[in-house]
Amino acid sequence: MSARIIDGKAIAEDIRAQAARAVATLKTVHGIEPGIAVVLVGEDPASQVYVRNKDAAVKEAGMRSFQHTLDAATSQDDLLALIARLNADPAVHGILVQLPLPEQIHTNAVIAAIDPAKDVDGFHIINAGLLATGQAALVPCTPTGCAILAERALGDITGLEVVVVGRSNIVGRPAAQLFLNRNCTVTMAHSRTRDLPAVCRRADILIAAVGRKEMIRGDWIKPGACVIDVGITRVPREDGKTRLVGDVAFDEAKEVAGAITPVPGGVGRMTVAMLLVNTITAACRAAGIEPPDIG
Ligand SMILES: NC(=O)c1ccc[n+]([C@@H]2O[C@H](COP(=O)([O-])OP(=O)(O)OC[C@H]3O[C@@H](n4cnc5c(N)ncnc54)[C@H](OP(=O)(O)O)[C@@H]3O)[C@@H](O)[C@H]2O)c1
Repeated sequence: MSARIIDGKAIAEDIRAQAARAVATLKTVHGIEPGIAVVLVGEDPASQVYVRNKDAAVKEAGMRSFQHTLDAATSQDDLLALIARLNADPAVHGILVQLPLPEQIHTNAVIAAIDPAKDVDGFHIINAGLLATGQAALVPCTPTGCAILAERALGDITGLEVVVVGRSNIVGRPAAQLFLNRNCTVTMAHSRTRDLPAVCRRADILIAAVGRKEMIRGDWIKPGACVIDVGITRVPREDGKTRLVGDVAFDEAKEVAGAITPVPGGVGRMTVAMLLVNTITAACRAAGIEPPDIG
């Protein structure tokens, strides 16, 4: 039987619409206009596309977008000076520094310099620590998107077995913490995991965040499981163009899974939507208002 395809595009559009309504209410009722500063250092083409998409989504939701495009040769001190100005600017509720950064800049130093209350990427160790201890945090956007997609597909996920393949600080680790906080039983797998196919077959919800195209095969999946594919790898097509491929062998997996996200059109769409939600959350907390429940 073929799996239900989880429509990340439609779910992300729904969240963006909820975000736009929340922004309208914040403006009319509280006089608050959520604003996000997006900092791009250098001219990496993929980063330029991501930043353009984020800018468009922020404006579409009725929020303010402050773009800062810096030369690839920018020094770490100059970038830290900009972050200090953004930290102090009350019109800026969220700060996002697009990664990767040029090699003369230490990513961890930059993340540590962002005010945790404005850290809408959720990468600051204060936010990572809050998430890991089950407290209210700004949570990384992609893992939150994964959790919402799983909940939209399955409803109540309490007590389910979740296997997260990948343990990066931006996807795998926070994804595991999120599902733990949602009362799932969580296993984290990585490149040293023994018998990864058997571990994956335990999962009611399988999160693939590896970055290796089609590594997870159909027979690694428990029949009826919900498969969330975070992976994005660009591969050449026969006509000389390129296409995006996930970490899961989709055609095999959809014959076994109960529900599955496609690539593209799955998790990727959720990341920008959750950035809007995090910015609204940061703006509300800055004003001492309870953030709206969007999801
Ligand atoms: N959809 C989105 O919006 C979005 C956002 C972010 C990332 N992504 C995509 O998600 C993927 C993962 O990104 P990331 O930043 O988390 O990558 P990353 O930092 O490279 O981490 C990859 C993880 O996969 C594990 N891994 C590598 N090879 C493995 C193997 N053979 N078996 C089991 N585990 C293996 C690594 O394990 P070790 O720790 O043991 O090395 C590591 O923990 C990439 O394709 C990326 O493009 C998508």
